[in-house]
Amino acid sequence: MEFSRILMIGSSVLLLCSSLASGQAASPPAPAAMSPSLTLAPAPAYVNLTYLLSVAGPFHTFLNYLESTKVMDTFQNQANNTDQGITIFVPKDSAFKALKKPSLSNLSDYQLKSLILFHALPKFYSLADFTDLSAKGPISTLAGGMYTLNFTDNSGTVHLDSGWSKTKVTSAVHSTDPVAIYQVDKVLLPEAIFGTDIPPMPAPAPAPAPDISPVADAPSADSKGTAALPSTSSSHRIMNLGIWSQLVLALVGGWLLFL
Ligand SMILES: *[C@@H]1O[C@H](CO)[C@@H](O)[C@H](O)[C@H]1NC(C)=O
Ligand SMILES: *[C@@H]1O[C@H](CO)[C@@H](O)[C@H](O)[C@H]1NC(C)=O
Ligand SMILES: *[C@@H]1O[C@H](CO)[C@@H](O)[C@H](O)[C@H]1NC(C)=O
Ligand SMILES: *[C@@H]1O[C@H](CO)[C@@H](O)[C@H](O)[C@H]1NC(C)=O
Repeated sequence: MEFSRILMIGSSVLLLCSSLASGQAASPPAPAAMSPSLTLAPAPAYVNLTYLLSVAGPFHTFLNYLESTKVMDTFQNQANNTDQGITIFVPKDSAFKALKKPSLSNLSDYQLKSLILFHALPKFYSLADFTDLSAKGPISTLAGGMYTLNFTDNSGTVHLDSGWSKTKVTSAVHSTDPVAIYQVDKVLLPEAIFGTDIPPMPAPAPAPAPDISPVADAPSADSKGTAALPSTSSSHRIMNLGIWSQLVLALVGGWLLFL
């Protein structure tokens, strides 16, 4: 009799907590709405971008540019500003290696800084938000109004177009308001720096052979990548659940002592 009551209370607490937990996972945290009796310290909003980028990737080249141009301060400041947040598109080291023409080595300091700033939007966007963004035409980046990107959402894959670079989001490194970091296949080259004289696809090796080579210069249709999309956000969720289940255990334990 006594024991079944405890069980009932315990399981209702469990239900309550798990519904809270799933509610939290689905929508951005609403700390004010949390039950006031549980005085959990709200998780600090501070996200250390240097740390995140140094453990993911490899993004060493981008990270070095961020430090040398001091754009990291701008990004971190924007990330600390939780009202707007930030969305960063990070090319892997291999994307910088693959960049033969145009080269970044001849850019002025100011141009290089703009190019790095061009890799971020001054607002947090989840992957789902890009469906709306793609209908909005050119979107201004942190480099300013002249530096725009076009987005298209092609059945769940986000494509980016800078004029010079056509690429896509290949994985989400981090996507929790206020900070989104998405890995992209290519370095984003702004028209505002390189002009609108868009180069043709990388020329194939000088061909003395007159035979028609079958689509030698077509961009390789790589289909990998998107599977790994929600990696980090789901691990956050699992961590969240871990915390909740410990909380539930503690609560039930407390009840048992009390009765
Ligand atoms: C952010 O992370 C970097 C690299 O781990 C570390 O050197 C730096 O001290 C951290 N910054 C803050 C403010 O915690
Ligand atoms: C961002 O916030 C962290 C933690 O409050 C602070 O240490 C850091 O200096 C801030 N950085 C910028 C650029 O505002
Ligand atoms: C960089 O500029 C120098 C001289 O201004 C030129 O000779 C060189 O070809 C340029 N390099 C690239 C990669 O554009
Ligand atoms: C972006 O889209 C607009 C039309 O919405 C077009 O005029 C512009 O050329 C596009 N820019 C790039 C870089 O593709």
